[in-house]
Formats: sequence, C-alpha cells, structure tokens
Amino acid sequence: MTPACLLDLAKFRQNCQRMKDVADSEKMTLRPHVKTLKSLQAAEYYAPASGPITVSTLAEAATFASAGYTDILYAVGLSPNKFGQLAAIQSLAPNFTVIADSQAAVNALVDYASELELPLSVMLEVDVDDHRAGLLPESPELVACARALSAAANIHFRGIMTHAGASYDCDTKAAQQAMGQQECERIAKAATNLLQAGVTCELVSAGSTPTALADIEHTGINELRAGVYATFDCVMAGLGVCETTDIALSVLTSVIGHQGDKNWVIVDAGWMALSRDQGTASQQQDCGYGLVCDEHGKLLDGWYVSATNQEHGIISHRDNLTPPESVFGYGRLLRILPIHACATAAQYSKYHVIGDDGNITAIWSRVNGW
Ligand SMILES: Cc1ncc(COP(=O)(O)O)c(C=O)c1O
Repeated sequence: MTPACLLDLAKFRQNCQRMKDVADSEKMTLRPHVKTLKSLQAAEYYAPASGPITVSTLAEAATFASAGYTDILYAVGLSPNKFGQLAAIQSLAPNFTVIADSQAAVNALVDYASELELPLSVMLEVDVDDHRAGLLPESPELVACARALSAAANIHFRGIMTHAGASYDCDTKAAQQAMGQQECERIAKAATNLLQAGVTCELVSAGSTPTALADIEHTGINELRAGVYATFDCVMAGLGVCETTDIALSVLTSVIGHQGDKNWVIVDAGWMALSRDQGTASQQQDCGYGLVCDEHGKLLDGWYVSATNQEHGIISHRDNLTPPESVFGYGRLLRILPIHACATAAQYSKYHVIGDDGNITAIWSRVNGW
C-alpha cells in the first residue's frame, strides 16, 4: 500500500553508530533524542532501555517509561496543564526530568513538587545561540533559578541543558564547528557561573546533529543530545552533515498520473504523506518536498517533488526533462527522501523496515500525539 514510510535498517544502524562513536571517543554520555522516530523498536538500536533518552512529548515519555526507560529528559518547557501527568511517569521512570527557563516556571514547579510523592528532577535550559528558549549563561536569573531549585524540598536539580538550533542555518563545516564550539563554551560558562554561586551541575547537556557531528572537541559538556542523525534527511544533507545516500527514511509512493505538456509525474504522496516542510528552500539546492529515488532507493538525479496538494505530489526535473516511461510509468513505485525526517515520520503510525535483502523485515510502531 502506498504511501508508506520505509526505514532502511542498514543505513539507520550506520547513522546510529556514527553518533555513538563520537560520544564514545569523547567519553560523553549519549542521550539520544527519540523525537524523530518515536519508536520503541527503533530505540532498541540507538537507545537501549537502560540508557538515558530525550523526548519531545509526554506521550513519548509515558510510552518509553512503560517500556523500562528510567532516565528520560522531557526537553520542552512544561506547561502547568501537564503537571498532573508527572506522577504517573515518575512512578515508572525515577529519573524522569523536566526543564524550566524562567523564575515563573521554577516557582510553579517548586510549588507543585511539594504535592508529589517522589522528588521531581529538573534541569534549567540555557540559551547559547539566541535561537529559541533558555536563560543566558551570565544572567542573574539563571543563578536565582538554580538556587531556588537546589533549595526546594522535593526537587532534584540535575543541571543545565541547551540545544544550538541555530546550527541548522550553518551551511559550512567551519560555521558548524564555530557553532558547536559556541554551544559548548556558552553552556560551560553557565556551569562555571553556577558553581561560583555554590550550585553544582551533575549534567551539562548539549547537542544538535550538526554541532554533535562537527568534528570538534565538545569541551565543557558531559552529555551529548542529538536526534535526527538516526535517519538524517535532505536538510542535513544540504548542510553537508551527511550524504543523501545516508538518509534512512523514505516514503514509498505510486505514480498515479501525468501532465505530459508540463513534464509532471503525479504521485499519491502529497503533503499528508511528506509533510509541508520546505526546510531546504533557503539552502543552496531547494529540494522542494523531497528528492526522488527509484523503488530500490537509488537517487534519480535532478528529480524532486516540486509541489504538493493534500494527497497529490508533483514530481518534476530541475531541467524540465521528460519523465521516462520506464521509471515513471503509471503504477510505478518510487521513494521520496524527506526534507525534514521528524515532520515526515509524524505523518505515520508505523514504519516498514527494509532489511539487507531489500525486503520488508519488520513493522515498527510509533507514538503520535502529545
Ligand atoms: C531540546 C533539543 N535537544 C536536542 C535536539 C536534537 O537536535 P537534532 O535533531 O538536530 O539532533 C532537539 C531538536 O529539536 C531539541 O529540541
């Protein structure tokens, strides 16, 4: 049935090993972010149940806690309307940890923790790149928040974390290295400031795929968090962090029609199957809604999904070539490499896992929702 989400097991394993090698070589704990695949079966390969993980939703936290994961970092600021879900996750995962990045959030967590049976683990988020959330490393508020958490009766202050999301705009190796260095230096600075104020950080955690793989010494951090590396995608390939041949996720689609005068091929993968993400639009090569491969995953040079409707995708060639019937005939199968793997995978409830022989060897499930 098409569209379907395929996961190439060999590529996936190789990608997982690449990040593990970086963490091992620098003796850092790897806390993989499971947000891309959100799959227990996939996590067995890169985040075994005894190891730490990062999640992006409480739905993931609950699922992974039920499966035996005990050290789970929920790396999104927690809204008060989710406090009621904490106790159940904590009871399964004693090191379940939430984050805060303001005095208001800290005060609310301190208040709520007094009602909890188990101590609540909390980390503070630090802003290292002016990209999204977090307290500045030098800010007095960071010290005040850390002191308040350390002094609170039923809170375990675990340390600080950051994510240099600005690295997604770094399109050269040098820029990624500079951003990786900035990420480490800024969070290390925050840890030093806290230490001088009398607060110790057990965890100093940082990471994004481009900065983790930037070929630098990650000095000053003891934990590396990255996620999309497990599958990679066209955005990462566009940054040069991986090759397109490393991309482990793809969407299997069927040719359902043509517009001969426009050299268009119509497929049954629209934005519902691919997502609307156009993350390569600002890169040197705009891959539209995905790069096109034959049914075995071989990249078809110059062919890309140039437009999408809800259930229709339009494939064209960069030089407006006529689509050969042998590849693009009615009913032919194609694979589309995702622009942003996290967004594309989110359109599915399961993955068809492709083994070494090119056949589907397993179906892996995925946790959706919040
Ligand atoms: C807080 C946090 N940590 C880690 C990551 C992992 O980043 P990447 O997917 O680039 O490895 C993300 C990505 O969104 C994140 O938001």
